This record gives sequence, structure tokens and C-alpha cells, in this order.
Amino acid sequence: MAIRKVGVIGAGLMGHGIAQVAAQGGCDVVVVEEKQEFLDKGLKRIDGSLAKLAEKAKEKGQAFDAAAVRGRISGTLDKKSLADADLVIEAIVEDLEVKKKLFQELGAICKKDAIFASNTSSFPIAEMAAASGRADRFVGLHFFNPVQLMKLVEVIRTDKTNEDVLAQARAFGEACGKTPITCKDTPGFVVNRLLVPYMAEAMKLAERGEASIPDIDVAMKLGCGFPMGPFELTDYVGLDTTLSILRGWVKRYPNEPAFRVPVLLEQKVKEGKLGRKTGQGFYTWQGDKRV
Ligand code: 3HC
Repeated sequence: MAIRKVGVIGAGLMGHGIAQVAAQGGCDVVVVEEKQEFLDKGLKRIDGSLAKLAEKAKEKGQAFDAAAVRGRISGTLDKKSLADADLVIEAIVEDLEVKKKLFQELGAICKKDAIFASNTSSFPIAEMAAASGRADRFVGLHFFNPVQLMKLVEVIRTDKTNEDVLAQARAFGEACGKTPITCKDTPGFVVNRLLVPYMAEAMKLAERGEASIPDIDVAMKLGCGFPMGPFELTDYVGLDTTLSILRGWVKRYPNEPAFRVPVLLEQKVKEGKLGRKTGQGFYTWQGDKRV
């Protein structure tokens, strides 16, 4: 594979996981953050996840060299460390203008043949690609939470994405242990275009008082075999993230009823109940566990 050195910008929920699976796939990874405390937190999460995976592998009698994986990951606050990266993946805050500015900056720092990718949940890839000054070497690489366990990566192409870049991005996804699917640059791509309206529809059903939140979750788990019901999953993904995806779509597609924002979601976010990360969402959480 041509991709050897990978830059991951952002060490949060998604970024730390992407950095880890890229290193598990044999790449040298540089994680870039804005503040040392965010970087430390992300690297600590990677340590915790690697320890879990090592323990699991030991139980199964499989080999897993956590130290070697960790040895391939370094952290920095300086984007200039990405000058010789083959691939740079952005996993920062979901703000299109901030992302465009970042890619403009990276366009000036990184070598000419480096591939750029965004892990955005729902913003148009083409707009970031245009800002980067290298639209032909730009894709969406959309991973799923928790990145270490979820087996899919969506590889999003724009009208300008070069075929070889697309092939390299797919190969990278495979090296990370994921199954890549390719899709066009449309709102929410495949998964979020189906998943987010489904989550919103569940909230509207609860708002109308047609079933309770726990009953809707049980229904979808037992009736459809989903690992989590829509409310548990929204708590897991983050209510703020879900709201921001819907609001972005409403702005661009005001006449699409599937994107209408549920009042319940707006209320919860206003109250600071953002899901598992704040201990309160549709449910109460203590760390990873629902109480
Ligand atoms: N690294 C390493 N190990 C981890 C881990 C991580 N990040 N996260 C969990 N584990 C471990 C757990 O500790 C557990 O270990 P244990 O068996 O020793 O306790 C093991 O993996 C399995 O975890 P669980 O017991 O929680 O196992 P589950 O079988 O319940 O699976 C799950 C957890 C994979 C999260 C499953 O519930 C699931 O698939 N949920 C749905 C997730 C989903 O739909 N994600 C997509 C969200 S949408 C998205 O991301 C798009 C974005 O743009 C919004």
C-alpha cells in the first residue's frame, strides 16, 4: 500500500479511534491536536482501548502486539509535522467553515501528492475539497463509533475525485480492518442518511406519546435485531451531534420532512443532556453503563 504515514487531526471520540486503527493497520500515525490536554486525553483513550484489545486477544489465545501499535502513534500540536504525510484525515469539530479553513492551511503544508480526507458525518465533501486546492486528491472517509469495533468505512467520492485516490482510500480502509463501501457526496452518505431520520422518527413517535422511550428501544432491538435501540444509540452518538446533523440538513433542504428536528431533541440539548458523555441524555449513564 502506498499510504505509510497518516496524519489524524483531532484526538476526540472519532479521531483517537481512527489513529488507532490506522496504526493497527501498520501505518505510522501522527495525531494533531490544538491543546496538549486534548492530545493527552486522546492518547490515554488509545492506551485504554489497546489494553482491552490485548486482554481480549490473550483470552482467545491470539497474538496482539499493543506496544508495537502504540509505538507507531505520536502526538503533536504542530500541523507542520504532516508535511510528509501520505494521507491526512480530519476528525475535528463539525463546523464546515472551520474544516474548510483547516484544509486550506493543510493544502499549503502537505506534500503535493498527499491525499486529504474528512471524517465528517454530513457536510458536503466537495466544499472542503475545493478549499484544499486539491479536489482531485480528496475523499470522505467516514468511520463509525466506536471506531475500534465497527467494521464499516464509507469512502465518499466527489465528481472530482481521482480513481487512483479512491482505490488508495479503499485500500487504506481495508488495512484498518474495515469493509469499505463507496458512495456519492450526498447528505449523510449512506448510513447517516438512513440512520439519523430513523432516530428522529423514533423521537417524534415518543413525542406523540405512542410508546415509551424504553419500549421503542426494546422494540427495535428485539424486533429488528439492532444492537442498540434508537434512543440508546442517540445517547451513544451524542444528542448534540445528532441535532447538529439535522440542523445542517434543514438549512440546506428546508422542504425535506425526514430532516425535521424533533422538539424532544432540541429540549434535551438545551438542558445540556447530551447523552452518555454528560451522564444524561434519554437515559442516565455512569461511564459506559446505563443506570
Ligand atoms: N476499544 C476496545 N474495546 C472496546 C471498545 C474500544 N473502543 N469499546 C468497547 N470495547 C470492548 C468492551 O469493553 C467489551 O469488552 P468486555 O467484553 O471485556 O466487556 C467489548 O468490547 C464488547 O463491548 P460491549 O460489551 O459493549 O459489547 P456489545 O456487544 O454490546 O457491542 C457495540 C458494543 C459494538 C458498541 C454495539 O452495541 C453496537 O454495535 N452498537 C451500535 C453502534 C453503532 O450503531 N454505531 C454507529 C453510530 S453512527 C456513527 O458513528 C456515525 C456518526 O457520523 C454519527
